[in-house]
Amino acid sequence: MFKGKTVLVTGGSGYIGSEICRAFSRYGAEVIFTYSKNEKAAKALQKELKKSKAISVNMRDVKDITDKIEALPRVDVLVNNAGTSAVMPLALLEEEDVDLMLDVNVKGMIFATRAAARGMIRRKAGSIVNLGSLAGERMLDVPATYAASKAAAGGFTMALASELKRFNIRVNCVVPGLMEGGVAKGVPDELRADFVRHCAAGRSGKASDVAEAVCFLASDKASYINGQKLFVDGGV
Ligand SMILES: NC(=O)c1ccc[n+]([C@@H]2O[C@H](COP(=O)([O-])OP(=O)(O)OC[C@H]3O[C@@H](n4cnc5c(N)ncnc54)[C@H](OP(=O)(O)O)[C@@H]3O)[C@@H](O)[C@H]2O)c1
Repeated sequence: MFKGKTVLVTGGSGYIGSEICRAFSRYGAEVIFTYSKNEKAAKALQKELKKSKAISVNMRDVKDITDKIEALPRVDVLVNNAGTSAVMPLALLEEEDVDLMLDVNVKGMIFATRAAARGMIRRKAGSIVNLGSLAGERMLDVPATYAASKAAAGGFTMALASELKRFNIRVNCVVPGLMEGGVAKGVPDELRADFVRHCAAGRSGKASDVAEAVCFLASDKASYINGQKLFVDGGV
C-alpha cells in the first residue's frame, strides 16, 4: 500500500506512534519517526523496522522542527502523533503548564505540518493525518488543557484540508478513545471501568486499532475522504 513512499511519524518512540510506524512498515513504507527523551525505544524501533530512521526532534522548538523536517529529501505522508498530557486542576494551573501542553500538541503539530507540507505543495501530492482525542470531543473527566489542545487538531484538520485541496493534499484526523497505554497509562481504574462500560466494544483501545485507521486514511484507498474525523473509540 505504501511501497516507494516515505512516511514521517512524530512521536514514534511512544505507545501509539511506534505501532503506527510498525503498520506503515508492514505496508511497505520507508518510515522516518521522531523521538525526544526516549532514545532507547527509538533506537530499538529503528533496529526492528527494516527501512526506518529515528530522528531526535524537540516538538517545543520551531527551529528544530523546521530544520530537521525540511532536511528530509521527501515526505509523502505526515502523521502528527507526538503529544503530551498532564493532570492539572484549573485552579492550580501555571502558565508554563499551559505552554507545555499547547507547544507540543498544537504548535508542534502546526510547524511539523508546515515543514513537511512545503515539499508536498511543490510536488502537488501528499496526505496528512492528525491525532485528535475523544477528550477534545466529549464531556469527559480529562485534563481541560489537554482537551483544549486535542480539540485544536480537529479544527486544524478541517481548515487545512480546505487550504491544501488545490495541491492534491488530503488532511484527516483520527480520534482515539481511551487506549491501554501511552498518555492514558495513569488513568484511574474507576474512570477506565466507566469508559469500558459505555464502550460498545467493551474494552480499552489498542495502539494497533489506531494504527490501522491512520494507515487507511493516509492511503489512496481513502482518496475520497478529506477533512474528516475518524473516531476509533470502540463505539462510545
Ligand atoms: N493513549 C491514549 O489513550 C490516547 C487517546 C487519544 C489520543 N491520544 C493521542 O495519541 C498520540 C500519542 O500518544 P500516546 O498515548 O502514544 O503517548 P506516549 O506513549 O506518551 O507518546 C508520546 C510521544 O510524543 C513524544 N513527545 C512528547 N513530548 C514531546 C516533546 N516535547 N518533543 C518531542 N516529542 C515529544 C514522545 O517522545 P519521547 O517519549 O521520546 O519523549 C512520544 O514519542 C498523542 O497525540 C495523544 O494525544 C492518545
